[in-house]
Amino acid sequence: MKPSRRETLALLAGSAATVLAGPAQARAEPTLSEAARGAGIVFGTSIAADTLADPAQATLYRREAGIFTVDYALKFGALRPEADQFLTADADAILAFAGPIPVRGHTLAWNESRPDWLMALSTAEKRKALDRHVDETVGYYAGKLHSWDVVNEPFWPGHGLPGGFRDGPWLEAFGEGYVERAFRRTAAADPNVRLVLNEAMTERWDETGAAIRAGLLKLVDRLQDRGVRLDVVGLQGHMLPQYPYDDNGFSDFVAELATRRVDIYITELDIDDARFPRDVAARDAMVAARYRDFLSAVLVVPAVKMVITWQLADSASWYYHGELEAHPSASRLPRPLPFNDHLQPKPARDAMLAAFGSRRA
Ligand code: XIL
Repeated sequence: MKPSRRETLALLAGSAATVLAGPAQARAEPTLSEAARGAGIVFGTSIAADTLADPAQATLYRREAGIFTVDYALKFGALRPEADQFLTADADAILAFAGPIPVRGHTLAWNESRPDWLMALSTAEKRKALDRHVDETVGYYAGKLHSWDVVNEPFWPGHGLPGGFRDGPWLEAFGEGYVERAFRRTAAADPNVRLVLNEAMTERWDETGAAIRAGLLKLVDRLQDRGVRLDVVGLQGHMLPQYPYDDNGFSDFVAELATRRVDIYITELDIDDARFPRDVAARDAMVAARYRDFLSAVLVVPAVKMVITWQLADSASWYYHGELEAHPSASRLPRPLPFNDHLQPKPARDAMLAAFGSRRA
């Protein structure tokens, strides 16, 4: 499991690290955003209102990112914890911070963001709640966002429903038609915003991943057959090492999706290191290798136009926050991202630079 020192060194030699650690007169290190631009793509990160509370962290995010995704402030439950609330302050703060950097909205129709008051509604009321949510939210931000993850995670085969759809309030209210409905209403409320269908676990190379990939291809075909505008398919890329992966197989799937004339964004990339060795150098090397292998394979597909990590520094990761919540005195904290909790670049950052660099070559 644990890579040998030779393997670790080989990994680093294969990355940009050796070049970047060159003599003082060497060119300044590129940011991730600059390196991505050289590869013809946009690099970005998710960001939360509390990410901005630390000025050093805020500076890092603004320096490295060419686009931001609002991490959770725009989810149904965050905007509308009670039926009569519409809490936009956190997302507004992110937009103000971003200035000229484009911001992506995440997410309008997601069956997992469902406050109690919503679940207590009748079917007819749930239908009205989705329509009102999309119309009001998209209307409020019209002209201010780059794109909306209109529907998030439509599939979850584990729920055992026909077609593999994820269960929840919107599926209950409309059946699978909630997807089309959310896309049409979003387009109507903000005609210029890019419309994204975002899905999880498509990278998993097992039965679950295969079912999600098949469902997603079918859904894209159906939406397009029905004349629904769909600009982008977002593939999250939360990599969990307990599952098998096949980067080239995944890249073939991405190429197949791209034949549908959609752009592809990798929308939520991070590497869960919970099962990697405790030793930090070994762990960082394995995380870096996963970034390098995944990105090198997927960036072969020209339709991949964007790579977004789910936060940028380990200390802002949902895994890091989750671990500290569960075990406040935890001595081993997650290291899933390109920068560490002191905001310093890690081998994962170098691996990303190398992967971006190899696309240009
Ligand atoms: C995560 C947020 O980052 C966390 O703060 C929250 O506790 C749980 O959700 N896939 C998604 C994101 O589409 O919305 C999730 O975000 C991560 C998994």
